Amino acid sequence: MDPVAKNFVRMSVIYFAISALIGVHYLFDEAFNHQLFQAHVHLMMLGWMSMMIYGVGYHILPRFNGNPVAFPMLAIVHFWVANIALVGFVSTWGISRHGYSKMPVKVFAIMNAIGIIMFATNILFSIRKPKEY
Ligand code: HEM
Ligand code: HEM
Repeated sequence: MDPVAKNFVRMSVIYFAISALIGVHYLFDEAFNHQLFQAHVHLMMLGWMSMMIYGVGYHILPRFNGNPVAFPMLAIVHFWVANIALVGFVSTWGISRHGYSKMPVKVFAIMNAIGIIMFATNILFSIRKPKEY
């Protein structure tokens, strides 16, 4: 398995565990804590679900056509962009709601979207046409 695919799977299960703990903690929290709620949702969705799909997807989807990943370097850049964006997004959400600048959370939100577009581009090119034998 390609290292980048493995690293996505590794990070995915780490976010799964962290987010499960946040979810449990959230239940014991009397006051509604929007920061924890948002962190739980996006660590599950962009962390556990999306990164598992990125990892398994980079490994398996290009193989449907017998091709390698179209842009291997882009996949490595995507790994870093996705992880920095997710951690940044969930950790700056709270401060942006307490009178501080919304700029950091917006930058990380855009970075998340850019990561998603990187994945989409790479997969679309990887499955474009079957390998000729
Ligand atoms: C240990 C496991 C989990 C615990 C203890 C947990 C706990 C919670 C709690 C307490 C809430 C807030 C409910 C509310 O106040 O409305 C919540 C919401 C949510 N959880 Fe989890 N959860 C767990 C696993 C998961 C998993 C595996 C996923 C998805 C893969 C997930 C996705 C969500 C989403 C999307 C919401 C927001 C739903 C909404 O918009 O109202 N959770 N969870
Ligand atoms: C570019 C990536 C993403 C950005 C910038 C983003 C941004 C946001 C924002 C700003 C909210 C409102 C949060 C709030 O008011 O509490 C939200 C809520 C939510 N997002 Fe995302 N999101 C992204 C990706 C995703 C993905 C991929 C999923 C699911 C697969 C997802 C699932 C949800 C859910 C279930 C909620 C509702 C939680 C709630 O009830 O507050 N998001 N998202």
